[in-house]
Amino acid sequence: MQRSGIALDIKNLHKSFGNKVVHRGVSFQLYWNEILGLLGGSGSGKSLILRSIIGLEKPDQGEIIFDGKDLSQMGERELFPIRARISYVFQNGALFDSLSVEDNLAYPLREHTRLSEKEILEKVNEVLATVDMTGSNELFPAELSGGMQKRAGLARATISSPEIILFDEPTAGLDPINTHRLVRNIKSVKSRGTTGIFVTHDLPAAFEICHRIAILRQGQIYTVDTVDNIRNSKDPFVHAFIRGDEDGSGQEPQP
Ligand SMILES: Nc1ncnc2c1ncn2[C@@H]1O[C@H](COP(=O)(O)OP(=O)(O)OP(=O)(O)O)[C@@H](O)[C@H]1O
Ligand SMILES: [Mg+2]
Repeated sequence: MQRSGIALDIKNLHKSFGNKVVHRGVSFQLYWNEILGLLGGSGSGKSLILRSIIGLEKPDQGEIIFDGKDLSQMGERELFPIRARISYVFQNGALFDSLSVEDNLAYPLREHTRLSEKEILEKVNEVLATVDMTGSNELFPAELSGGMQKRAGLARATISSPEIILFDEPTAGLDPINTHRLVRNIKSVKSRGTTGIFVTHDLPAAFEICHRIAILRQGQIYTVDTVDNIRNSKDPFVHAFIRGDEDGSGQEPQP
C-alpha cells in the first residue's frame, strides 16, 4: 500500500520511574515509507519509546497518534489488533523457546489471520528464505546461533506484513559477518517500502539503512534530520556524537 504523510505522530512524551526522569517531552514524526534511525546513549530511553508505541509502557503524559487514534490511551483489547499492524523486533530476537522456528514464525499468523495451515507454511518458508534460513523450520531457538536468532526474530516481525516495524538494536552483539547479513536482510525489508524505526548504536548500519536520523539526548529529541545532514552536521554535540565522543545520555562521564 503506497501511503504518504505521517505514520506515527509522537507528541510530548514524558515518563519517569520513581524520581528518575527518562522522557521529558519527546516529540517526532515517522513518515510512511521511511526508516527513521533512533540513536542516543545507553539508558537514554530509546527502547522505552518503542515499548510505549506498542503499549508495553504507558507515558505519564503525551500522545502517540496512529491512524487517528492515541495508542497511549488504549487498553489491551484495543491494542491487540494494533500489534498485528505495528511489530517489534526485540533486542534479543525474543523467540518462544518451547516452539520450533516454524511455530515461532507461524504464531503471529495463527493469532492475527485466518490463513489455512497450508498458506501459513508457504508464508513461513517464503519469509525464512528472505533471512537466509531456508530449511531451519524444525530447529528450536536454543539450537540457533545468536545471528540466526536475530534473523528469525526479524522474520517473525515481518511475516504478518505489518504497516510499521520497530527494530530494537537488531545488530547488537553480532560479529561483522552476521551484522552485514542482518543489515542486508533489513535493507531487503526496506526495499519493500517498509516504514519503521531503527534503534541502534551501530552508526554505519544506521547510515546505510535509514532515511533520517533522530538523536535522543537528555530526555528529548535533540535533532532529527537526513542522514547526509547528520553526517555533515556542524553542531558540536551531533559532531561529537557521531564521532563517538558523546554518548547522548546527558550524564557526566564516570571516572
Ligand atoms: N520498567 C522500568 N522500570 C524502571 N526503570 C525503567 C523501566 N524501563 C526503563 N527504565 C529506565 O529508563 C531508562 C531508559 O531505558 P531504555 O531501556 O529505554 O534505554 P535505552 O536507550 O534503550 O538504552 P540501551 O541503549 O542500553 O538499550 C533506563 O535508565 C532504565 O533503567
Ligand atoms: Mg534499549
